[in-house]
Amino acid sequence: MGYNVGLLGLGTVGTGTAKIILDAVGRHPLLETVSISRVGVRNLDKARDVKFADGVLTDDLDAIVADPSIDIVVELIGGVDTALKYILAAIAHGKHVVTANKAVISRHGDEIFDAANAKGVYVMLEAAVAGGIPVLAPLKQALGVNRINRITGIINGTTNYILTRMKDEGADFAAVLADAQHLGYAEADPTADVDGLDAADKIAILASLAFGGRIQLDDVSCEGIRKISAADIAYAKNLGFTIRLLAIACGHRPDSGAMPDEIELRVHPTLLPAHHPLATVEGVNNAVLVEADPLGEVMLYGPGAGEGATASAVVSDIVSIVAALGTETAQQASADNPLLRWDRDSYIRVAPMADLVSRFYVRILTQDRPSVIGHIGMTFGQHGISLESVVQIDVHDRGAEIVAITHEVREGEFRKALDELLTLDEVSDVPSVLHVW
Ligand code: HSE
Repeated sequence: MGYNVGLLGLGTVGTGTAKIILDAVGRHPLLETVSISRVGVRNLDKARDVKFADGVLTDDLDAIVADPSIDIVVELIGGVDTALKYILAAIAHGKHVVTANKAVISRHGDEIFDAANAKGVYVMLEAAVAGGIPVLAPLKQALGVNRINRITGIINGTTNYILTRMKDEGADFAAVLADAQHLGYAEADPTADVDGLDAADKIAILASLAFGGRIQLDDVSCEGIRKISAADIAYAKNLGFTIRLLAIACGHRPDSGAMPDEIELRVHPTLLPAHHPLATVEGVNNAVLVEADPLGEVMLYGPGAGEGATASAVVSDIVSIVAALGTETAQQASADNPLLRWDRDSYIRVAPMADLVSRFYVRILTQDRPSVIGHIGMTFGQHGISLESVVQIDVHDRGAEIVAITHEVREGEFRKALDELLTLDEVSDVPSVLHVW
């Protein structure tokens, strides 16, 4: 029994996917049953890293998704609208789909999974979150028998690379970003990465799996790393912290252990104690820390992007589908394997950020005169906020720089105190406010 794959896109991940499938020796034996029968590209004349038999490459992507001989369509063209069109067309033609596209799934997952379940086909997306690290399959299977209480991830390699270099070199964000773009670690338009949108797409997918419902992408609170300065990184380091862009999905379960009524869902830079396992994740690597009952803490770590790593996740999905189909042809199959299906009916309620209880780091620019620290402490105190530490870090011609770390406080109350702080005569600016783990 053999299975035909139609590949849409032959960029970095498409090329890596083809290389694995075309060189199946010594890998999972089911790969021997998989053939790439068509590859859809925009430009037929472009030089390619992999060689296909005559007639395999085509610029007619509509023909691939409609081809009756193709069992699995692998969407690796990226973007949202065009990818959605081909994914839905493939499903409508009864094809199973594998995609690495977190943006299309986080925005249109409902429509895609409803269509797939109605048609009896699988849609698989291991490569969409944390690149080569197996995360979704473990959450569906081995980890899924636990009650998941929290997922905390470093799931954007570009921002982790930038923050790592800022720490190591004492450099500012803009300079490291420019160099990262020059070296190819950051996109020419870095918005999706540095503003946290890519991580938001990914944590929405993880939360949906962990907490058993659908997520509205707009419910993910999202803050990127543009405002992090070399000063913040240095102060954090002196205080024993490392700054990382974390994506967090967390829910408090009732005593029965049932799914939480609402969850916290957020992406933001965070001061992590330097000994925290996620603080040791450096460069472009990703890591996902899962807190599960009764298992405990499990950290999945590795390359979150790149040709071979992401292709590994894509091909693992192809093999999972082939294994589930067994001896049925794709057309006969009804995609009823509960470990591979994505059944989510109701939406998960997400708590407003104002209700979040967290510690905060705040950097305040003030005049250098008596009682400033006292006034700041009093303003926080009037809002019931207790300070864990206050340090006057620097005095220069523009005044003094004061860094405070609070004890745990409701974010809404903390923000009110900040507004009041800004009305004090002595306070000229509050350039940085960051969550502390
Ligand atoms: N741009 C992503 C990152 C990789 O920097 O992690 C693809 O998800």
